[in-house]
Amino acid sequence: LTYGDLPIVRGAGGETHQRAEEGYDVLTTQQGMPVADDQNTLKQGARGPTLIEDAHFREKIFHFDHERIPERVVHARGYGAHGFFETYKPLPELTRADLFQRAGEKTPVFVRFSTVAGNKGSFDLARDVRGFAVKFYTQEGNWDLVGNNIPVFFIQDAIKFPDIIHSVKDEPDKAFPQAASAHDNFWDFISLTPESMHMIMWVMSDRAIPRSFRFMEGFGVHTFRLVNAKGKSSFVKFHWKPKLGMQSVVWNEAVKINGADPDFHRRDLWNAIKAGDFPEWELCLQTFDQKFADSFDFDVLDPTKLIPEELLPATPVGRLVLDRMPDNFFAETEQVAFMTQNIVPGIDFSNDPLLQGRNFSYLDTQLKRLGGPNFTHLPINAPKCPFHNFQQDGHMAFHNPVGRANYEPNSWGTHIGGPRETAAGFESFAEEAEGPKQRLRPESFADHYSQARQFFISQSLIEQRHIGDALVFELSKVEVPAIRERVVSHLLNIDEGLAQTVADGLGLAALPTAAPPAVTPRIDLPA
Ligand code: HEM
Repeated sequence: LTYGDLPIVRGAGGETHQRAEEGYDVLTTQQGMPVADDQNTLKQGARGPTLIEDAHFREKIFHFDHERIPERVVHARGYGAHGFFETYKPLPELTRADLFQRAGEKTPVFVRFSTVAGNKGSFDLARDVRGFAVKFYTQEGNWDLVGNNIPVFFIQDAIKFPDIIHSVKDEPDKAFPQAASAHDNFWDFISLTPESMHMIMWVMSDRAIPRSFRFMEGFGVHTFRLVNAKGKSSFVKFHWKPKLGMQSVVWNEAVKINGADPDFHRRDLWNAIKAGDFPEWELCLQTFDQKFADSFDFDVLDPTKLIPEELLPATPVGRLVLDRMPDNFFAETEQVAFMTQNIVPGIDFSNDPLLQGRNFSYLDTQLKRLGGPNFTHLPINAPKCPFHNFQQDGHMAFHNPVGRANYEPNSWGTHIGGPRETAAGFESFAEEAEGPKQRLRPESFADHYSQARQFFISQSLIEQRHIGDALVFELSKVEVPAIRERVVSHLLNIDEGLAQTVADGLGLAALPTAAPPAVTPRIDLPA
């Protein structure tokens, strides 16, 4: 029998069997045993009970039953692609990082774009923040730049991360809404967290919902450090700028697209890369020293603040090109494990308290999500440079120490004693640290409104109107009047016109009094 041009054999019950003709691999069990019949379980008699002896059936179903791993606790919905980063020119005066030492050097990368709040099956065009996570497989180890498409964050201290995420995800009793910010818990938390106001302006703005990943900016958010071979450190902010320019959709478009095609963003990336239309971004650096940092009223360690590019331009230092889709979504995009603590010699952290907390969180979450300490052995997570250490065993260990030595120092010579330290290895920047051990938010973090206002007034009139519309729409879903009013009381510290628009849109009888700012907002920042 043929069906089209496919050779098939009908079984006794009319079922389809396809035999491994020439050119086909033979179907086997996981143990490599060739399978004669994958259509029927082993039964006692043609119509009798299934036998537990059917090892092939049990292996197949057991494996299926274990297919799912926990979705990411945040950024569950994402889409990844392979590509390369090409360095424009050597930057030895700034950093000893190997990938920045040679013009034209191409470093392989894997990038995953994501939404934050929705679950794995949620729609692409939610009003949400987007993740922009890049794993650089450098010759001195993997560097993960785990950023977002918005340059600032909601909170200043990592201890608040579970709270903001709980508030934005579905409510524990209702189990909805699963991907929208429009509900009481989220706005309750926001209204009690004035530091979130700057980020709220971005999320409510026309910059929030990208037209596609290819038109999306990316930001490392935190202040990091670059360290050169002499040990001199510069502060740095990382920016990704799309070669296609930044483009978004407005809310009306997003609602329609989500209804028609919830996979709009991932389909766009797949189609573009498969068609050879490879998206590109430039990596741009804002670098500065302590004196420059001290010239601001805000603290460069505060992740709710950005450094205006009017004051410090972002210089392009290389380009990122995405040119290959994964062969398997699960193996690569789902199992990729980004971690902010993955840095390489020449790059270092700052004391941003959000970054410091992230550096703990990502390893912890990968252990849980990927099922044990050997997730770095998966091809998508393993370095592409040589790596040797004495870590051993555990579930699914692909790389174990070879030979007798599994500790150091040891007396065994070359080829037996295993790897040794190198003076050229990573050393943390020797930053001075002193002061009492305490839980205290520095006063330099206390101005929550100036940059929110700066963002708002930098928008065109139509964009400002869209921010007002978005706030009215989102807050109109909030049932508790006090929460609505509390948000408006913050808006009064950002822009009175905006506060009035939102109050009118929500039908508030009168404007509330402005929230007491910890620090008088500055009004003379550049627009
Ligand atoms: C995942 C960015 C803050 C914990 C992610 C991902 C991105 C990201 C892009 C997705 C990675 C991927 O595609 O696999 C950011 C940014 C932050 C931030 C830019 C602030 C500036 C935090 C904080 C914490 C945290 C403060 C905890 C203290 C996590 C966790 C995951 C995650 C647990 C899931 C990781 C996984 O299962 O693979 N984050 N994040 N993040 N983030 Fe963050």
